[in-house]
Amino acid sequence: MTDNELTRCATTFGTPLYVYDERELRARVAFLREHLPEHVELCYAMKANTFVVPELEQIVDGLEVCSPGEESICAELGISQDKLVISGVHKDADLIDALVSSGAPVRAYTVESLSQLEMITSSAVRHGARVPVLLRLTSGSQFGMDASVVEDVVRDHAADPALDILGIQYFSGTQKDSIKRLSRELAKLDAFVHGLEEETGFSIRVLEFGPGLPVDYYDAGKIADEAAFLDEFADLLRPITSQRRVVLELGRSVVASCGTYLTSVVDTKTNVGSNYAIVDGGMHQLVYYAHAMALRLPPVHVLGQSADAAAGETDEWNICGSLCTTSDILAKRMPAPGLEVGSVLAFEKAGAYCSTEGMLMFLSRDLPKIVVVDEKGEPHLVRDGLRTDVMNTPRSLS
Ligand SMILES: Cc1ncc(COP(=O)(O)O)c(C=O)c1O
Repeated sequence: MTDNELTRCATTFGTPLYVYDERELRARVAFLREHLPEHVELCYAMKANTFVVPELEQIVDGLEVCSPGEESICAELGISQDKLVISGVHKDADLIDALVSSGAPVRAYTVESLSQLEMITSSAVRHGARVPVLLRLTSGSQFGMDASVVEDVVRDHAADPALDILGIQYFSGTQKDSIKRLSRELAKLDAFVHGLEEETGFSIRVLEFGPGLPVDYYDAGKIADEAAFLDEFADLLRPITSQRRVVLELGRSVVASCGTYLTSVVDTKTNVGSNYAIVDGGMHQLVYYAHAMALRLPPVHVLGQSADAAAGETDEWNICGSLCTTSDILAKRMPAPGLEVGSVLAFEKAGAYCSTEGMLMFLSRDLPKIVVVDEKGEPHLVRDGLRTDVMNTPRSLS
């Protein structure tokens, strides 16, 4: 977005403010599609940003939905169930049952454990349905199932009339900026799938893979040429696409670039020789990967002042948020000549996880209830559980 457009947003709506640019979003998806093999499908992991789901829903093949809150958002937005991959390590039996009994099939349910398998199968049996599933293979964490368990499930349920086993889901982490690492991971996965097919005689039709494609937040240079990076990644995928449907589950890489976080300077001071600017936002509203204590300078500039023009200036500022903690630092020693109260800072590439990963809002799960225990040991409920899907749902207000 141009600074003029951003300034208009800041003036009209005030700060702090997230601005998401649909134009950039569409261009970004087109760019990804252009560099990925033709038949690769895109499944957007909506935890990265729920507010752009209406725009994205039209241009991606599926949505990965990880909680009842995220499902409610989709329902409220009128998104067809056949777009949804019902995912997540903690599935809700009532939600699964409601979806299965609705008669409108979802794109897939992922299976993260044997108890989830039982939950999904018994719901399918109860409602006389046959449900599509993806078995999640673990990468050695709490997510997914061991290879041997996946194999047992395939063997035991290949002919199960309640289950349509589509294939495998795999996600091992985000911000993977090494092609070597992605290559090793895909080779291992491919070998596992072939082994599974040989052992069981069952055909794996879908590989749903979360590559954790990286975003270059700090100009680290590793993926300076993103098109070349994606072309190399596409070369790794191509042989697999000739054997089965490949679906990429992507969050960060789809939405990071469309977002700008605007926050205004409300106070300035010089303490022990360092310049501090206090802004009306804070670290609870801005989440960059590996950004703790702002050890690295994120992509930020003062509206009306290009970052290039400011680079090398000796007028440097520590940008601090409004929270009462010394950790609330958004940028350290940022070159920003003439920064003053009222200046608006634009943090770029802020479209992924910022509005949802302030941890309380993550996954649109309910906020915890709060209980205060009094002197006599009596517990008192002082706040009920609050729904956050309401807060994470886009509505037309202007
Ligand atoms: C199962 C799964 N798929 C996809 C993603 C999206 O990852 P990224 O934002 O790195 O693309 C996540 C993120 O946590 C995930 O848990």
